[in-house]
Amino acid sequence: MKVTIVGAGNVGATCADALAHRRIASDVVLLDIRENFAEGKALDMMQTATLNGFNTRIIGSSNDYTKTTNSDVVVITSGIPRKPGMTREELIGINAGIVKNVSESLLKHSPNAVFVIVSNPMDTMTYLALKETKLPKNRIIGMGGILDSARFRCYLSLALNSPANDVDAMVIGGHGDTTMIPLTRLASYKGIPVSQFLNADQLKKVSADTMVGGATLTGMLGTSAWYAPGAAVATLVDSIINDQKRLFTCCVYLDGEYGQKDICLGVPVIVGKNGWEKIVDVKLNDEEKASFAKSAEAVRNMNNVLSTIA
Ligand code: NAI
Ligand code: 2OP
Repeated sequence: MKVTIVGAGNVGATCADALAHRRIASDVVLLDIRENFAEGKALDMMQTATLNGFNTRIIGSSNDYTKTTNSDVVVITSGIPRKPGMTREELIGINAGIVKNVSESLLKHSPNAVFVIVSNPMDTMTYLALKETKLPKNRIIGMGGILDSARFRCYLSLALNSPANDVDAMVIGGHGDTTMIPLTRLASYKGIPVSQFLNADQLKKVSADTMVGGATLTGMLGTSAWYAPGAAVATLVDSIINDQKRLFTCCVYLDGEYGQKDICLGVPVIVGKNGWEKIVDVKLNDEEKASFAKSAEAVRNMNNVLSTIA
């Protein structure tokens, strides 16, 4: 199976590395607009093959899309990341142009691929990619919820003093500091509601830490994070390539589901070889419904900006 990743920067390269380490794809093409940059990253990674025990071929490309031909999955990470103090939304002007051009080039060479959108503001970039490519909605997936849910599970496990893999939890809504919704009510420790172990103040702190999870790291690193984002994208690609039918929160096109239409937003979906295959209807309480509606309103306002910069 062949995966193309556009953008050989922090997130793209980390994802390629995870795809190889975890033997998810036979061929990974890493493409970047910077001359020789992707080739350099690809060669460096290929030189770890005997050390890390993988046979994945990683091919670098300086903006040559012929190398991406007939990819099964394409991942768009090209664009600028956040700097300290910036919101994801502030990236829209530059990243919209990049995502539009990159989507067109990818589509030309891989008309049957499932598209994974990572560039921020991710919910709006996913909507843009869907409108630009006119692909069936199931083949456009925005990655944000898998990362936010992993961060939520991490903060919960730290508060519980438990292994992260014993904690299950998800974040729905937009991939923004104020638009994401950690579903604390449904979070569990080995199937037991976390509210049996953590009090309301502790849960509030976990939720708040999760929501600014990306911003906290941007403040520490001077740019946005890459280990968890790269691993989250690889996990999503794994479910597509290997038809795993895993249940994740992904940003997908809503056509009435969760009370929203004509918007891409994070909801639980089943992911397999056809992209996202089914939206799972979680019964939200009134407070969660109101948060979801507010999140949708913010993302819709951001989508409206697209018409002013196209
Ligand atoms: P980075 O700056 O390390 O890498 C971006 C790469 O894109 C650079 O190497 C750049 O040369 C390349 N690029 C720019 N324009 C291009 C074009 N037209 N064609 C091909 N390549 C092009 O940035 P990083 O940290 O990898 O982040 C990438 C994007 O992903 C950012 O927009 C960031 O905000 C977003 N992000 C999204 C996450 C999510 O959960 N959805 C998580 C982390 C980052
Ligand atoms: C993150 O959540 C900024 O979207 C990026 O790390």
